[in-house]
Amino acid sequence: MHREIRKFLAGMAVAAAALAAPAPLARLHADKGVACADCHGKGKARVDDNEQAPNLACVRCHGDLKAMAKGAADPLNPHASHLGATSCTICHRGHEASRSYCLSCHDFDMKMPGGTDAAWKPRPDPARRDRRVDRADVVVVGSGAAGMVAAITAHDAGARVIVLEKQPLTGGNSMLAEGGMNAAGTKAQARKGIKDSVELMREDTLKGGKFLAEPALVEILARGSAASVDYMEGLGADLSDVGRLGGASVSRAHRPTGGLPVGAHLVDVLRRNAASRKLDVRVNSRVVKLLEGRDGAVTGVEVCGLHRGTYRILAKSVVMASGGFSANPARVARYQPSLEGMASSNQPGATGDGLDLGEARGGKLRDLEQIQIHPSVAKGSRILITEAVRGNGAILVNRQGERFFNEIGTRDAVSQAILHQEGKSAFLLFDEGVRQSLKQIDGYFHLKLVKEGATPEDLARVLGLPGAALRATLDAYNAAVDAKLDPLFKRPDLPRALRTPKFYAIEVNPGIHYTMGGLAVDTATRVLAKDGKAIPGFFAAGEVTGGVHGANRLGGNSISQTITFGRIAGETAAGFAKRQPERK
Ligand code: SIN
Repeated sequence: MHREIRKFLAGMAVAAAALAAPAPLARLHADKGVACADCHGKGKARVDDNEQAPNLACVRCHGDLKAMAKGAADPLNPHASHLGATSCTICHRGHEASRSYCLSCHDFDMKMPGGTDAAWKPRPDPARRDRRVDRADVVVVGSGAAGMVAAITAHDAGARVIVLEKQPLTGGNSMLAEGGMNAAGTKAQARKGIKDSVELMREDTLKGGKFLAEPALVEILARGSAASVDYMEGLGADLSDVGRLGGASVSRAHRPTGGLPVGAHLVDVLRRNAASRKLDVRVNSRVVKLLEGRDGAVTGVEVCGLHRGTYRILAKSVVMASGGFSANPARVARYQPSLEGMASSNQPGATGDGLDLGEARGGKLRDLEQIQIHPSVAKGSRILITEAVRGNGAILVNRQGERFFNEIGTRDAVSQAILHQEGKSAFLLFDEGVRQSLKQIDGYFHLKLVKEGATPEDLARVLGLPGAALRATLDAYNAAVDAKLDPLFKRPDLPRALRTPKFYAIEVNPGIHYTMGGLAVDTATRVLAKDGKAIPGFFAAGEVTGGVHGANRLGGNSISQTITFGRIAGETAAGFAKRQPERK
């Protein structure tokens, strides 16, 4: 068929679909006299995968996120959410029913103009090919903290960088990180009189991971951690609050002042740094293949963009930073059948595609059966309740109103202890003192996850627990705090008594949180083949790699890993690229 006729028919099909859909935004706009070109831009320019033209048009007419949040009556307002500076088209679609990205993790009754289809997923068309070939020195796959730090580092080392993100927004799982970034020997620790060392962080990490981790990688994690805090602060981050998380011998989880969640803040800082450097960051862009050179090197990627279709980017090196697979139930069940059906705390993009891409290029995978469940996901939801609440003094009680474990033990141990309680859940119990110590807790109130009572007995009534038992539990715990000794469970850190009304509780159960296994890498982040040799031009950092955490990751070590290994990956990938000829 003649190309022009084909094009015309395709255009008619799109228009027909737009009209058939239940009042999509395009139709609502047309009814108000808005022309196609007002959103799409004039001339022949196609909407790009970042959907810049429609997004600019939305803001031009409706105002930015801040303006949209201002007028809203409901305090649960997606325009003011923790996703940060995101674009309108993530949720609002022109030619399909809209969908709220929040519903990927939350369960709200959310109405949107143009209708809502929670199940809607972007549908890039892999059969549509764009024969134009792009070029870069370094391609980074994934835009969580590891990917963004690798990209910024490579850019600052002089490389031309392209970042590819399959989701409609950047940030990956890093955006959801709460408790903190582990680092030993930092200035913030010194200011607070905390005595820590690289050796102690290394030992805690190896022990927490049941000595399955690669000691050389753990050494890099611990040794690079303080410099990584400095690096992030140099980019504009605030990591001045320090708290304690499970399995750590001392307080080393760094986060913003007042105990705000660490992830949303760092992702915001990284987005700003990427923007100020004019980095080429492409969302809605799924990598479908790693290109292979004649010498066995990775020489670029094949990408499927939401609007552009399938195209190639020739690159001198590729950094895989695509995250783990906790949000891929089939994959989780394949490696750990006992976890089938368990909710995950992860963002929907954490499906493990990078493992398949890497394996197809000869990469070695390790420790895939090592899947972490986090003890405290709010029951009936996918909302992680940070370990920092326990770190700042909360306790766990069962349906008998009794404590049953050292609350700041390692995640694997605390999770198992909860699963052994009646109902396979527990109540995370804290008071106003703990609430005031950690700003992150405000978010759980915001999401209506917290039950409260003026006294322990009141709270027990709300929760359906025996009041006298709960009172006795709190009295015994407070006595232990006063004596600085927990005779029941040897909890090593007793930061504050729970005596300040009101008293609060969140029902929690374990949820799939982190995948320790992944691509095998060496200390320079080079991806290793099955024969143990590095694959030229192929680097990886963050949760897509295996070997840093062994059989169990300590809270706060993930963000630390992303920054430290992201920096190494950016440097080595840029250095490798410098030594390569231009790809043809
Ligand atoms: C948490 O805050 O409990 C999670 C942080 C982490 O996974 O390191």
